[in-house]
Amino acid sequence: CHPLLLVVCFSQADEPVCRHRGDSENPQLSKNGDIILGGIFSLHSSWKTRQERYMHKPLPLQCTSLNFRDFQFAQAMLFAIEEINNSTDLLPGVSLGYKIYDSCGSIPRGVKVALALANGNEEVFVSSEEQCIQRAQVQTIMGETSSSPCMAIATVIGPFHLPLISHFATCACLSDKVKYPSFLRTIPSDYYQSRALAQLVRYFGWTWVGAVRTNDDYGNNGMATFIETAEQLGICLEYSVAVFRTDPPEKIRQIIDIIRDSTSKVIVAFVSHMDMDVLIHQLSYHNMTGYQWVGSEGWIFDSKTAAMDTHHILDGAIGLSIPEAYVSGMKEFMLDVKPLNSSGNELFTEFWEGLFNCKFNQSNLSVGNEKVCTGDEDITEIHNSFTDMSLMPIFNNVYKGVYAVAHALHNILGCNETCDSKRPLDPLRILQQIRQINFKTKEGDEVYFNENGDPAAKYEIINWQPTQNGIVDFVTVGLYDASLLADRQLILENKTLIWAQNSMQVPLSVCSEECPLGTRKVLQKGKPVCCYDCIRCAEGEFSNITDSITCERCPSEFWSNEKRDACVKKETEFLSYEEIMGSLLTGASLFGTCMTCLVACIFFRYRKTPIVRANNAELSFLLLFSLTLCFLCSLTFIGQPSQWSCMLRHTAFGITFVLCISCVLGKTIVVLMAFRATLPGSNVMKWFGPVQQRLSVVGFTLIQVLICILWLTISPPFAFKNFKQFNNKIIIECALGSAIGFWAVLGYIGLLALLCFVLAFLARKLPDNFNEAKFITFSMLIFCAVWITFIPAYVSSPGKFSVAVEIFAILASSFGLLICIFVPKCYIILLKPERNTKKNMMGKGPTKTT
Ligand SMILES: *[C@@H]1O[C@H](CO)[C@@H](O)[C@H](O)[C@H]1NC(C)=O
Ligand SMILES: *[C@@H]1O[C@H](CO)[C@@H](O)[C@H](O)[C@H]1NC(C)=O
Ligand SMILES: *[C@@H]1O[C@H](CO)[C@@H](O)[C@H](O)[C@H]1NC(C)=O
Repeated sequence: CHPLLLVVCFSQADEPVCRHRGDSENPQLSKNGDIILGGIFSLHSSWKTRQERYMHKPLPLQCTSLNFRDFQFAQAMLFAIEEINNSTDLLPGVSLGYKIYDSCGSIPRGVKVALALANGNEEVFVSSEEQCIQRAQVQTIMGETSSSPCMAIATVIGPFHLPLISHFATCACLSDKVKYPSFLRTIPSDYYQSRALAQLVRYFGWTWVGAVRTNDDYGNNGMATFIETAEQLGICLEYSVAVFRTDPPEKIRQIIDIIRDSTSKVIVAFVSHMDMDVLIHQLSYHNMTGYQWVGSEGWIFDSKTAAMDTHHILDGAIGLSIPEAYVSGMKEFMLDVKPLNSSGNELFTEFWEGLFNCKFNQSNLSVGNEKVCTGDEDITEIHNSFTDMSLMPIFNNVYKGVYAVAHALHNILGCNETCDSKRPLDPLRILQQIRQINFKTKEGDEVYFNENGDPAAKYEIINWQPTQNGIVDFVTVGLYDASLLADRQLILENKTLIWAQNSMQVPLSVCSEECPLGTRKVLQKGKPVCCYDCIRCAEGEFSNITDSITCERCPSEFWSNEKRDACVKKETEFLSYEEIMGSLLTGASLFGTCMTCLVACIFFRYRKTPIVRANNAELSFLLLFSLTLCFLCSLTFIGQPSQWSCMLRHTAFGITFVLCISCVLGKTIVVLMAFRATLPGSNVMKWFGPVQQRLSVVGFTLIQVLICILWLTISPPFAFKNFKQFNNKIIIECALGSAIGFWAVLGYIGLLALLCFVLAFLARKLPDNFNEAKFITFSMLIFCAVWITFIPAYVSSPGKFSVAVEIFAILASSFGLLICIFVPKCYIILLKPERNTKKNMMGKGPTKTT
């Protein structure tokens, strides 16, 4: 027996030797021929669900909802067969026959009729010698329309290499030639369509969409690929729901609720037209307009669906359709339904009654206000989905499929003028031939199958544009060609698009508005990546693109502006002459300089007077000179620091101050010595005469000069940009280079000042009518106080203030010295000249100098 036959063999000769299990099935449409082609179409689109208890034999499937679409597909197949039979070029002398079954869109029934096609289903009576030997009935099967039945059928007939050529099963899963080796199709795989839809959605900037799919292989696989591609393109799904036409009403209502509660305005529907019809009904009932629909080829170019949409739910829909096609003569052939009626079986009575909306046998009905069928109804007078030719591209697919088989047979039979019909035909050879076929139909369509048994993927993008009379016009607005480079696949022509609710504006469907410049995205917890908040960039950061994920840091010399969308150069800060603090300090320093000069002039003018002579005129002038330098050296601290000014300021300060203190120290020692010199028997003055005084001043100063030279050569101070202290400004300051150098200079000054203070302190009580030691003590006290308070203030003041503090300390200590040491003398010189006598100087105490 043939491997596909499920037979029970009997021994009695008169009984049928071979009998099928199950009931025999007769094709709904058939015609004899030399070679028979099978066809499986869903002439009904649904069936009654029954709970089987298996108490008795289950009844055959009860099909419902006559489906004129698949009648059209069957007609298209018949047209192609007749055209081939008429032709003298293709298969001359060979007649093609057909057997067409109705699968009702049911998978089990599809498998059953596929087996019937493969094996023949009539009861076979054979003589006892020739037992159950029967050849395969059909050479190829055309169909089915939907993906799920195709998968089942292809699984069953695949091992026997019986080709199955579908015109409308688009599931990408069917491209798997390991699972479905004998499956071929004339419609592109959803692998391309899902991607194209995702690109279309991205093109219009919809990143927040809902998804509805048919709950079968077509919808589930198509949607899975769509979601995968959409994620890559940055599109987020708010929800994804599955619907099937046999679902109970509660389930459909749940779906409606989900859609109503959603915030996305775009719905991507990967559904078949049968499921869309169910959905539209419910959507209309709930008055759910205003959604932008994006559709797969399953319903988007179905004029029946458009006609059902009386509430204009789907107006403005956009989606992919199979490119327009036209096959001459097909429309006329299809509408000529007379030959179909002649077959006279039950199905065609139903078909005829459905088509013309009449009844043949009125007596069976109690209420009969319907028309009575005459059998001579005129098809030109009716308009329904059977007379609608909008699915011509799919009819063309059926047509191409039949021609592919015919071309393959033509090659196998070696047809030239005649065909060698003796040659054996087996499905495997036919399958191999079909897969290699490459021809053009009479309309110029190229037909071939790639290694997956799929044709080239080309789609038209169509837009549902409502017209005045309420009928929707499917306007082609673009093309999608998967064979082109990625960026050129999707092309939208410059045509006006009409969107949901007749809007001319592209609808917006995003979860969050795009983040403006100067902000960055922060994802919302637990929500998809398309939902985010926009957070302003922090100070010192910027973002100059919209929808930025991060804020960039400005380079170190820059800082972000107020809007945070660019970086601006940081302002630099240093103590300048222009600003108030700088100019005040400059003024103070110049004032000090002038005052010192004035004092010097007074001393010079009165240089002959005892008070000047008594107070060691040489040291006094040197002290005044060094004080002038001290006041002036504070100016080096003001202005933008540079390499030279940084090196100059500390060393100049250190040296002039040491010069200054050494003069004071010299004065103090002189006072001490002078007192000792008056004691009997001592001649100390010769130990500390003018020469020694000069030498000591020079010596003390040289030590500081040496410290400064060491500092400058080993690690000199340098100008330096401080980015750390403040974020938004650069402080230009002098780095110390070596802190040890700085503190050594300062420490040496401190040491001398301390020594001076101690000596002056010792000398303060000595009898002297003009006790210089007292003033020196006082001035040193001020000096030390100023510099001791300087240290913590200097360390803790930021930026330019530390410089100001230093200048202040320099000025304060200089003024201290100037005022304490010189002002009392000037007072006597100018205002009390009567006290400026040698007698007065000598009178009270033995102050004596050269
Ligand atoms: C086939 O030939 C017959 C007879 O010539 C004609 O009536 C019929 O229309 C033709 N069919 C097709 C599909 O060309
Ligand atoms: C449906 O919606 C339209 C516009 O949104 C409104 O005019 C109409 O009254 C609604 N119909 C029902 C039944 O709610
Ligand atoms: C077909 O016929 C032509 C002549 O009519 C002949 O030259 C050719 O060889 C034939 N081809 C085959 C495959 O028989």
